[in-house]
Amino acid sequence: MTIGSDVLSLAGKRALVVGGSSGIGNGIAQLFRSQGAAVRVWGTRASAADYAGEKGSDLTGLEYERVDVSDPAAIDGAGSFPDGLDILVLAQGAVVYRRKEFEIETFRRVVDVNLTSVMHCCTRFYPAIRERKGSIIVISSIGAYKSVIGNPAYAASKAGVVGLTRTLGDAWAREGVRVNGIAPGMIATKMTAVTTEHPERLQAALDTISLGRLGLPEDVATTALFLVSPLAGYITGQTLVVDGGRSL
Ligand SMILES: NC(=O)c1ccc[n+]([C@@H]2O[C@H](COP(=O)([O-])OP(=O)(O)OC[C@H]3O[C@@H](n4cnc5c(N)ncnc54)[C@H](OP(=O)(O)O)[C@@H]3O)[C@@H](O)[C@H]2O)c1
Repeated sequence: MTIGSDVLSLAGKRALVVGGSSGIGNGIAQLFRSQGAAVRVWGTRASAADYAGEKGSDLTGLEYERVDVSDPAAIDGAGSFPDGLDILVLAQGAVVYRRKEFEIETFRRVVDVNLTSVMHCCTRFYPAIRERKGSIIVISSIGAYKSVIGNPAYAASKAGVVGLTRTLGDAWAREGVRVNGIAPGMIATKMTAVTTEHPERLQAALDTISLGRLGLPEDVATTALFLVSPLAGYITGQTLVVDGGRSL
């Protein structure tokens, strides 16, 4: 294989980033756009304008669609890709603090968003992805591999998507579709503001990160770019840990 300077170009590619309205998904969407892809993102608010001025949300140049993935009918009714889809990124995520995930209704709600909707989006768009021999990226978490003491639904759902990634990667490889995951550590987004914007909790977190800094959405986005590129053409079913050494 000759590695050309355009190996990371996404010119002519179409991407859908679920959870692309904010944080990690938004970082992936913007990197993919800068590499030449046409990118559609999903989020929960009525319109792109509703994210204006929000830290971690830059919808410039992205096509926005409101789809609440906790509602299966909304996933089924969302816009399609009649000409096929090259890249599907599942970056939706929910976490509920204060031990609420020990209550079964909340447990179910978190699992619905973090696990069941990931499978639903994958099956909904599989025909379009198969048509382009495309690639799927699932965002898990290092919480998949350890206890997350206050968040049983988050931990279980993130472990669940690691297994889902492995199985879909195997099931769809023969059709030319690769499915891989990323397990981020602590990334500065609105989901982690509860820690990162609290000086003592932030210091305690930094003490556990070998590289000595919080991750940025860009750190996850560059890994996603590698995984969808021909450089990762022989990788499928894997979840890469991107955590600055936090899990070491
Ligand atoms: N930040 C971290 O340290 C970290 C670490 C490991 C894994 N992760 C995972 O990374 C992914 C992205 O999280 P983030 O940190 O970037 O947090 P974030 O900024 O809160 O982004 C979460 C995204 O998910 C969307 N979302 C949540 N519930 C949804 C629903 N019911 N329907 C549709 N979209 C929904 C949000 O939409 P709105 O913008 O409309 O709310 C947003 O786009 C999640 O899967 C998270 O579990 C994050």
